[in-house]
Amino acid sequence: MIILGIDTSCDDTSFSILKDRHVLSELVSSQTEVHSLFGGVVPEIASRRHLEVVDRLFLEVLRMAGLKEGDIEVVAVTAGPGLVGSLLVGLSFAKGLCCSLGIPLVCVNHVHAHAMSIFLERDVEFPFVALVASGGHTVILLLKDPLAFEVIGTTRDDAAGEAFDKAAKFFGLPYPGGTVIEELAKEGMRDRVTFPRPMVEERSHDMSFSGLKTALINYVKKNGLKEASQPDILASFQEAIVETLTTKTLRAARDCGVGTVVVGGGVAANKRLREVMVEKGRAMEIEVLFPSKRYCLDNASMVALTGYFFARAGRFSPLDAAAFSRMAVRTHGAKGA
Ligand code: KG4
Ligand code: ZN
Repeated sequence: MIILGIDTSCDDTSFSILKDRHVLSELVSSQTEVHSLFGGVVPEIASRRHLEVVDRLFLEVLRMAGLKEGDIEVVAVTAGPGLVGSLLVGLSFAKGLCCSLGIPLVCVNHVHAHAMSIFLERDVEFPFVALVASGGHTVILLLKDPLAFEVIGTTRDDAAGEAFDKAAKFFGLPYPGGTVIEELAKEGMRDRVTFPRPMVEERSHDMSFSGLKTALINYVKKNGLKEASQPDILASFQEAIVETLTTKTLRAARDCGVGTVVVGGGVAANKRLREVMVEKGRAMEIEVLFPSKRYCLDNASMVALTGYFFARAGRFSPLDAAAFSRMAVRTHGAKGA
């Protein structure tokens, strides 16, 4: 089965072609440079940029795979959650293609796709718990099969990536903040400043990161950079996020009685998170798996792959499917979107 995947959920325009689960070609056109001028993604600019590049990317990804338009059998596209203006560019393009080629459409949930991205590189047995931590989402899911997920925990305020981005903005560092903070934190002492681990003591699997960002700002306003250096503060801040995500996710896996955790989303690219989760997981006899970095970040291959499982099960979406901006707080099942 030849599947075209499209993701325009935020600020990356991404196309991919899969033959079943095998990637034939993939492309990501990043808008980071333009948004970094504003310290975050500007929705109106993002959707216009998607519109400018979709045609060219589509032709290029086809050329790279050595295929022609008529070879595509299914189109899988992110319908949400994300920025609606951005999502509509990819979704409209996908619908147009399905109409003109007479092929089926699969609408994919972006967070579900992050949780499934590991299957691009290896097999994982169901059930497993997935942590998806990015700039827009921080959720813990339970997946019992490839077609459905259950949200068992979510951030009550900011996403983990958003906390990194806001901390970077506060220090005048470029967007996206996660990679920059990770780099600076390498030179810092992780236990130099004691930041809170929000909600870790609570039994619920929900999380909170906005208080942590406020704690960082208050600390710097009160102490300046005399007591601790910027790398020390950032290393301590990163450690608080890493520990919160690790404790919450591993506890969720234990409570669900599953022995495997899969991590996805931009924050999953963080080396300290990878190190701590694998190590603490091992101590609890829980295997923690991370996709390679390019599949942690937004990409259309994970969308095509999720679409593949739906298409194989004959689960297609109507051509009037709508884009949606937010994930329902407690969702059961993916229903293709
Ligand atoms: O999944 P993604 O590419 O886009 C969204 O769906 O949001 O994730 C981007 C987010 C940004 O908030 C960025 O700061 C964060 O992931 N991020 C990181 C790292 N690389 C990206 N956070 C921590 N450490 C990193 N190495
Ligand atoms: Zn994402």
